[in-house]
Amino acid sequence: MISAVRYPPPSNSLPRTHMACVQQQSGRKSTNKRKIITSFDVDVEKETTSTSATAPVFKRRKISKSLSVKGHSTRTTQKALVVVRKGEYELIDTHAFPTLMNEEEVVIRNLATGLNPIDWKSVDYNFCLPAFPWVTGREMAGVVEKVGSQVTTCKAGDRVWTSTYYRDSRAGCFQEFVTVPQHTVLPIPPKMGFESAACLGVAALTAAMTLWKWLCVPQPTTTESKPGAEGYLLVWGGSSVTGQYTIQLAKASRFSVIAVCSEKTRGLVHSLGADHIITRDSKSNQAILDCIRSVGADRITRAVDLVGTDTAPFCMAALSKTAPSHFAPLAMMKAGEAVPPNVTLHSVEMKRFVLDKESRRYAESLNKLSEAGRLKEPVLEVLKGGLGRVREGLEMVKKGDLMGRKIVVSMH
Ligand SMILES: NC(=O)c1ccc[n+]([C@@H]2O[C@H](COP(=O)([O-])OP(=O)(O)OC[C@H]3O[C@@H](n4cnc5c(N)ncnc54)[C@H](OP(=O)(O)O)[C@@H]3O)[C@@H](O)[C@H]2O)c1
Repeated sequence: MISAVRYPPPSNSLPRTHMACVQQQSGRKSTNKRKIITSFDVDVEKETTSTSATAPVFKRRKISKSLSVKGHSTRTTQKALVVVRKGEYELIDTHAFPTLMNEEEVVIRNLATGLNPIDWKSVDYNFCLPAFPWVTGREMAGVVEKVGSQVTTCKAGDRVWTSTYYRDSRAGCFQEFVTVPQHTVLPIPPKMGFESAACLGVAALTAAMTLWKWLCVPQPTTTESKPGAEGYLLVWGGSSVTGQYTIQLAKASRFSVIAVCSEKTRGLVHSLGADHIITRDSKSNQAILDCIRSVGADRITRAVDLVGTDTAPFCMAALSKTAPSHFAPLAMMKAGEAVPPNVTLHSVEMKRFVLDKESRRYAESLNKLSEAGRLKEPVLEVLKGGLGRVREGLEMVKKGDLMGRKIVVSMH
């Protein structure tokens, strides 16, 4: 039997004592290195050799340890938009400044955060909120404030972006300082601004991991091959921000892309390189499916749905009836929906980015494509003024009809 400390720390294990800061002096200069003693409860997962599907057993254990940090913050509080109870936010400036829980964590000063449908859905429908109060928000960009002593991928002052997991309230992006493990912290490509980088953590990374990790789409190479050589890929919801990245990444991997969007976003979808655009205005899903099949015939082997439970089965029906095919319903699918035997249904879990250190390579590849100028960013609608504008931005996302624009809140 092996015991392993679980990451991220469970909701009920946030530090109870954040204490003694001892400024160390070295010669004439302060090293900016402080000793922080933390004491907190963690759940220790007992891994057994049993193959039964029963839930793991967790046992509470108190852990005390000493952590070294490099950085310059001496703050004890910060501003945060906190979900205080079901469906209710409060903007406060007395939220605890984060404490590192291990030597591989990074605290980032938030300069811009991207808003996503999951942010309002989780609060309106009360899911992905392990406890109250909680801080939500899944993507951001900023400047490294401080790092644990084992952090090697970045240092205080670096411009970075990250993608976070809701299980750790310290990683919620609707606060001034966001605390995450180092493997999830990426440098911002040199020519990219904070607002653009704040969109990489959800839509861009989801598109990348969906294609490269789950749908078995080869990562783009620089070697010449015929456009469309890999066959057809369908994106239902091509003008959504995630759809925009999906189209471009699929094109970069030599797929012919069929995209479904409305007439008013046709120009945008065309500009991203979609080969065949099916507009949805006044058409039933069956009529859209007929259009898709008339283009792709039996050669569509990949499909991504970004719309919802009504369109997911039609996406699946568009796939080849004979060739091995892959489908990712990113906007949910009804339980019990029939899946053809040649189709592999993928449940995309973006928490894998945080839980699996090797997933960093997907974010690095995204950075490389951006630096090479091979990824167009969505048109941004930037709300200046900081966390106080998040709720207004979430209402805009909820209302929809953004015509492919991405809402970003700037902390300036
Ligand atoms: N981890 C994950 O699983 C994950 C990650 C990212 C996103 N998602 C989900 O994916 C969905 C899209 O997210 P997003 O942030 O990219 O959305 P978004 O940018 O807010 O996209 C909204 C767009 O969807 C399009 N749309 C709505 N109904 C449509 C329909 N029937 N057919 C075709 N297009 C339609 C609209 O475009 P038109 O103007 O062209 O109609 C609208 O502009 C959401 O449900 C989100 O929760 C899941």
